[in-house]
Amino acid sequence: MRNTESIIGNMKIPVFNLKRQYEQLKAELDNAFKCVFEKGIFVLGENVRLFEEEFAKYIGAGFAVGVGSGTEALHLSLKSYDIGAGDEVITVPNTAVPTISAISFTGAKPVFVDITPDTYTMDLKKVEEKITDKTRAILPVHLYGHTTEMDQVIKLADAHNLRIIEDACQAHGAKYNDNYAGAIGDMGCFSFYPTKNLGAYGDGGIIVTNNEELYKKLIMLRNYGEVEKFTSKIEGFNSRLDEIQAAVLRVKLRYLDEWTNRRMEIATQYRQLLYNSNVQLPCKRQWAKHVYHLFVIRVNKRNDLKDYLQERGVGTQIHYPIPIHLQEAYKKLGHKAGDFPISERNADEILSLPIYPELTTEEIETVAGLITKFQNI
Ligand SMILES: Cc1ncc(COP(=O)(O)O)c(C=O)c1O
Repeated sequence: MRNTESIIGNMKIPVFNLKRQYEQLKAELDNAFKCVFEKGIFVLGENVRLFEEEFAKYIGAGFAVGVGSGTEALHLSLKSYDIGAGDEVITVPNTAVPTISAISFTGAKPVFVDITPDTYTMDLKKVEEKITDKTRAILPVHLYGHTTEMDQVIKLADAHNLRIIEDACQAHGAKYNDNYAGAIGDMGCFSFYPTKNLGAYGDGGIIVTNNEELYKKLIMLRNYGEVEKFTSKIEGFNSRLDEIQAAVLRVKLRYLDEWTNRRMEIATQYRQLLYNSNVQLPCKRQWAKHVYHLFVIRVNKRNDLKDYLQERGVGTQIHYPIPIHLQEAYKKLGHKAGDFPISERNADEILSLPIYPELTTEEIETVAGLITKFQNI
């Protein structure tokens, strides 16, 4: 009889697996590609327009503007408020680098507030002390699919006349109470990077807002500042969601709720299987609909566990191994180790387990079984 170790050793459970989703939707997706190719319109065509309408409706926002990436969604949102040199934007250091590059590319300064020890989102008790007369916006990140406590963000923003730009790049379909992430602040920014809960086959992003004036400005900003072809009213960029990606996303949006439910089921299963282990499971506040873009545990000997799983065919990742204030690229902000202790602790202890709708029960049991076994060594 083969021993368990060798069976597990032969199993390959990557941290993401995009092929399974394609196989399931192959006929629909291939047809969507074909229609775009046959029509011959690849930039700002009807799929982009229809997807913008469909996504805005899904999120419960008045308007949506498809752009080149999540980074660009953040960048253009800030630009639409003329946020730039001399301004400050408050956000967290425990996020993807692009949250910060979007701010600094406007010329504004990213100002960090640490995260809470449990939700890993912005610690709202620490925001007020960072507000200065240069602060223009708060940019909360709904990390891993769990929203920031938005009532508190709104209170702070109202009290200090600040804009709220939500980084919902990991939070498609997530909710704060009854409202969708992205539709609560002034603007919501989403990424369609392939591994996201709603992912394209390349880069893509979208901004949602209820402000018609800013919507019109965003339409110009993403397309050379044009009001009509060859007539630029403002300085703009080239940052457009392309027609092929929009066609793919229109197909996939119809499955988003089903996929979210499956992610939630997988999370429940992991929780049950790891309940008695020593790992710190993800926190879910009662007001949050957590969509589990990532299932992030916290463990001692994180690197050893990561290696142990890898050797047995289970892929994991660390989101994120270096908090932004300690990244070489952002040395200019003048921070040092110890400035944001919760983010720094997380960087040493967190581990993202495989979670995607197509993950099987057997695979979930294998991952959890290995973690339990590692802890008993
Ligand atoms: C929290 C967060 N913000 C911003 C981004 C940037 O999105 P994109 O990769 O589409 O530019 C990402 C995705 O990587 C993200 O996870």
